[in-house]
Amino acid sequence: TSSPVTVTVTGAAGQIGYALLFRIASGQLLGPDTPVRLRLLEIPQAVKAAEGTAMELDDCAFPLLAGIDITDDATAAFDGANVALLVGARPRTKGMERGDLLEANGGIFAPQGRAINAGAADDIRVLVVGNPANTNALIAQAAAPDVPAERFTAMTRLDHNRAVAQLAKKLSVPVGEITKLTIWGNHSATQYPDLYHAEVGGKIAAEQVDESWLRDDFIPTVAKRGAAIIEARGASSAASAANAAIDHVFDWVNGTPEGDWTSAAIPSDGSYGVAEGIISSFPVTSRNGAWEIVQGLEINEFSRTRIDASVAELVEERDAVQKLGLL
Ligand code: NAI
Repeated sequence: TSSPVTVTVTGAAGQIGYALLFRIASGQLLGPDTPVRLRLLEIPQAVKAAEGTAMELDDCAFPLLAGIDITDDATAAFDGANVALLVGARPRTKGMERGDLLEANGGIFAPQGRAINAGAADDIRVLVVGNPANTNALIAQAAAPDVPAERFTAMTRLDHNRAVAQLAKKLSVPVGEITKLTIWGNHSATQYPDLYHAEVGGKIAAEQVDESWLRDDFIPTVAKRGAAIIEARGASSAASAANAAIDHVFDWVNGTPEGDWTSAAIPSDGSYGVAEGIISSFPVTSRNGAWEIVQGLEINEFSRTRIDASVAELVEERDAVQKLGLL
């Protein structure tokens, strides 16, 4: 057993936080040999609720949980952090324009980026879950110039897992038979779940489904799954979002399986014509603790149009936050 890893979770008293913290403390984020010290960041009004969750964490007597600190101060929350899960965000409320939403989130993610820059550990890895996740990650990254840019990532793993599940259901195969699926672009309705390189039992997935199913059923079902969950549950995805955050960080730290890849939003190096610098979802592998974009995939015309549309949305978001002086 190694020394404890400090994991900071923002929005700890929220519904994703409630689904996430117990899994981190039980060892599912980093593996069964790594003790964790939790740092919970909340806004002042929610600190008491976070304390309640911490009481429950105590009551689990998790052998790997080395301690819990709760704070409403970002500088304290990120001091010495090795992993930061940025879950707390400003939701879009009725009548709010995109510019207002980006500005409100700038007020959260820029200070958190500065606090990470000032005090996080050298090996800090950041996953942004709070929406708009890709652009919030970009804002935090810009506020942390001393941290390598590639340590800032955003979550599209829930979209990835949703796409795997939908495809498995369609073909009546276990999810474990599906490999090399990709979510491209933004974690938004424009995201593109790509079946042209995905394999099912070693054969290309797109060739095993009707084109009309792929286009008119699969893609919109994956993209609108969040809304369907709200409609059914009366609340947004929480346990599945927490699960995806666990998957993302676990793979980042421990590596992806040989012969497969996953999806994560990471800073673009210009691969596949995706504007350099934006945080966009790609097919990625993880080796030695770092994400790498899978290279050399052929992009057909259908995929090209979809990827370009989602990337265009990310470029617009970037330009909007640039105008606000956040980059
Ligand atoms: P929630 O509203 O239940 O919890 C959010 C928590 O964040 C609240 O406790 C709030 O007090 C806290 N918070 C707000 N501002 C904060 C700040 N400046 N510092 C620290 N904490 C702060 O929301 P829920 O359901 O837990 O979702 C959280 C975020 O995750 C939302 O933005 C949601 O849209 C996003 N999300 C992203 C997904 C993805 O796939 N990337 C999937 C599902 C949700």
